[in-house]
Amino acid sequence: MFDVWSALDKRRISRCYNIADLRSAGRRRLPKGIFEYVDKGTEDAIALANNRAAFERVKMRNRVLVDVSNIDLGTTLFGKPVSLPLAIAPTGIAGLCWYEGELELAKAAASAGIPFSLATGSNTSMEKVAKEAGGRLWFQLYMWQKRDLSYELVKRARDAGYEALILTVDTALGANREHNQRNGFSVPFRPSTRNILDVMRHPVWLQQVLLRYLATSGMPRHENYPREYQARITGDAGSKKDLRAHSMTWDDVEKLRSVWPGTLILKGILHRDDACQAVERGVDGIVVSNHGGRNMDSASATLDVLPEIVDAVGGRTTILLDSGIRRGSDIVKALALGAYSVLAGRATLYGVMAGGQAGAERAISILKDELRRTLAYVGCRSPAEVSSAVLDQADA
Ligand SMILES: Cc1cc2nc3c(=O)[nH]c(=O)nc-3n(C[C@H](O)[C@H](O)[C@H](O)COP(=O)(O)O)c2cc1C
Repeated sequence: MFDVWSALDKRRISRCYNIADLRSAGRRRLPKGIFEYVDKGTEDAIALANNRAAFERVKMRNRVLVDVSNIDLGTTLFGKPVSLPLAIAPTGIAGLCWYEGELELAKAAASAGIPFSLATGSNTSMEKVAKEAGGRLWFQLYMWQKRDLSYELVKRARDAGYEALILTVDTALGANREHNQRNGFSVPFRPSTRNILDVMRHPVWLQQVLLRYLATSGMPRHENYPREYQARITGDAGSKKDLRAHSMTWDDVEKLRSVWPGTLILKGILHRDDACQAVERGVDGIVVSNHGGRNMDSASATLDVLPEIVDAVGGRTTILLDSGIRRGSDIVKALALGAYSVLAGRATLYGVMAGGQAGAERAISILKDELRRTLAYVGCRSPAEVSSAVLDQADA
């Protein structure tokens, strides 16, 4: 039978030529509260803007008359091949952008040959993602107040075959997202006239996402949370408050290192001393990240602090970077300043909100094409050939 929805999805996606187009397409589908939760930063959105400004400031010099007819974007990440130096960052709300959005993202990552990170707060269980998506899977962990519950999650991730654990360390306290107070969106979702009207104004989302959950698994919830905390999206927010550990220290990293034999990555490093501490604890990688400008609004832009961190721990751990990746040229800039690979958060989320798996695949292929083109312009035939030599003198 002719599927009108998927035909419309395909048409919408085929008209998206860059990540900004996917963002616009996704924006039209989603209730405002959810879109803003994804799209905006925190407080005055300074960190969000600075992340982009840092990428925009960096200039590169064209190199000419280099044979770039055979560019190979592939590299390895933690000892295994990837088709380009990119992984999908953990984002807790993909399951509200699209029905089982995490699964759609994971499938897109698997088909593109890059790793996918599943967030602790996802709406699809880690076992389901592992069973149905395949590919390279990383699990992101928020340490909980009751540490035993976190270690149970770690065990589940190991049993389900996740190859890497990302411990997010930059969320000492929840963020001050004033826009979500204004638009009435929160997780767990608390119904109000404002947000119910918002949902009613987006009937496609209502039908394709919310009603689909209600018809299958019920109201979306945090599927990876322990049963006693598995608050539905409409559940009591109080239960969540008990969850996150505000007391996490380097001892927790040490303990985690001893219980998790696989690849361990620390996400949310912005200071060289913290990078050094991480290396001393034996982590396999760090993500230089300010959480996409979503936590501390005065946070440094990641590209700005990258050279200092590379100087401190380069060669001793795998340095990844996220926060602000919107173009393939951004990937080249991050590599030129010493990152080994980057993670995309919103770029692929915009894709999934515009068109599920196909939309996420579109986002990855846009970044890939732009990466290839930029490499050709700077005279590099692979990510490994990128160095500070491609930068304008002022940025090198
Ligand atoms: C909607 C949304 C939800 C997120 N949820 C999480 C999360 O649950 N855990 C986490 O470690 N990072 C989370 N992040 C941060 C991302 O992993 C990543 O650091 C950030 O999105 C990178 O910036 P970018 O969006 O500019 O690419 C989230 C980001 C967004 C946009």
